[in-house]
Amino acid sequence: MSPSVSADQWLAAAKHRRTVYGLKGTSAVSDKRVEEIVSEVLSFSPSSYNTQPVRITLVTGEKHKQLWDIIIKTSEPILKGAGEAVWATLSGVFESHKASYGSVVFWESGDSIKAAGEKHQSAAHMFGQFAEHTTGMAQILVWTALELEGLGANLQHLQAIPPVEAEIKKFLQVPDDYSLKAHLNYGDEPGPHNTTVPEKLPLSETLKVVN
Ligand SMILES: Cc1cc2nc3c(=O)[nH]c(=O)nc-3n(C[C@H](O)[C@H](O)[C@H](O)COP(=O)(O)O)c2cc1C
Repeated sequence: MSPSVSADQWLAAAKHRRTVYGLKGTSAVSDKRVEEIVSEVLSFSPSSYNTQPVRITLVTGEKHKQLWDIIIKTSEPILKGAGEAVWATLSGVFESHKASYGSVVFWESGDSIKAAGEKHQSAAHMFGQFAEHTTGMAQILVWTALELEGLGANLQHLQAIPPVEAEIKKFLQVPDDYSLKAHLNYGDEPGPHNTTVPEKLPLSETLKVVN
């Protein structure tokens, strides 16, 4: 069966994805539809040896606000310890993330990585790295799909502050072996979708064709 989208259409869709800040606290796309999109990504996204280390928590509406309240409260003393100026900047950034509508939280299952190493012993030393690749693939698919539905999104990494990760795990009630990999905030866009791709290095530096 030939695919119903061409490579050019697929690339145009992928190129539509941008980092969007200042998101609104609304979503024109229903929670049910976002859940369908996330489920669809989990149903086909690749992983090494099909070991599937990715876990996702979808958090919407008031729960998203509560999640960000916890992030803000836990990070405050730590960021203030880094300097009042750091807190002044980041508290504003975090409040803007709280103001968005929902979060798609990406975890890595430590138990699944351990099991993969036991099952495929010759590649055991690779499964940590493979899991990093695998989550990135799932993240880009979800991020792109949500923006194709008309939403905006931005990717955050709260695991940078370990006590914050611990509080997020508690609030979202995930198993101990999970580790936080990424946090995609989403919501309606504050303005027209930005189609400008940030400047990239010249291909002469990033691509070499050998033939
Ligand atoms: C692995 C990775 C980590 C990122 N981490 C963050 C982050 O912690 N906070 C943030 O605001 N953006 C983050 N970004 C978004 C990048 O800053 C953004 O993708 C880049 O500037 C290019 O802009 P674009 O997303 O519009 O193409 C991350 C992107 C990637 C791929």
